[in-house]
Amino acid sequence: MKIDILTLFPEMFTALNQSMLGKAQERGLVTIETHDFRDNADNKQRHVDDMPYGGGQGMLLMAQPIFDTLAKIPHENARVILLDPAGATFTQKKAEELSKEAHLIFLCGHYEGYDERIKTLVTDELSLGDFILTGGEAAATVMIDATVRLLPGVLGNVDSHEDDSFSSGLLEYPQYTRPEDFRGMKVPDVLMSGHHENIRKWRLRESLKKTRDRRPDLLETADLSEEAQKILAELS
Ligand SMILES: C[S@@+](CC[C@H](N)C(=O)[O-])C[C@H]1O[C@@H](n2cnc3c(N)ncnc32)[C@H](O)[C@@H]1O
Repeated sequence: MKIDILTLFPEMFTALNQSMLGKAQERGLVTIETHDFRDNADNKQRHVDDMPYGGGQGMLLMAQPIFDTLAKIPHENARVILLDPAGATFTQKKAEELSKEAHLIFLCGHYEGYDERIKTLVTDELSLGDFILTGGEAAATVMIDATVRLLPGVLGNVDSHEDDSFSSGLLEYPQYTRPEDFRGMKVPDVLMSGHHENIRKWRLRESLKKTRDRRPDLLETADLSEEAQKILAELS
């Protein structure tokens, strides 16, 4: 996968050089390149922002530096993603969808927002959630992390993201590691039983219970097996 990021703050993406994402880059599973669009500003002062027509507070990103930076990146068939609090909310499903693409481009806004004409360049507008960040960099970092970890070979165990919360439409079941008894808090017996079928059933039940208690909205769209529906009916 190739990822290009248009930003005024390329240093903010050094976080992506750590841990699994850093290793994924070293192993050539993903290439991440930042482009400071100030470098393409067509004025001597290298301004990339200006006042809004019609008045109003704050400055807006101008269209020119972004249009000209994107024009320098071959991007046929790329998904061009604008970070925008008014966009569709980023979800695990969206990360799964993006992980199947060969080329992603993220446009990070700043200041009070951007010239609306920038939107003619994009295929997607995505928000991290219902809050306002100072810029799109933190949002792009989160979306890139969630997407790249799904690429084949990035996680040690190919299956290790399949039980993650949201992957199955449910929240993940509780997990434990050694020791078996930590200061009087014991690991549930079933997990020590070695009985794989009972463990699977316990995990499914716990997953359903947690989702029902914490995120009942997820159950409205989760694709539940007959077994899961039966357990859910027993729980209520
Ligand atoms: C200070 S915000 C501008 C907010 C804008 N005035 C509004 O009310 O929608 C600057 C930039 O940060 C990014 N940003 C802020 N919050 C975001 C969010 N929740 N999700 C994605 N990007 C966000 C966007 O690129 C946005 O253009």
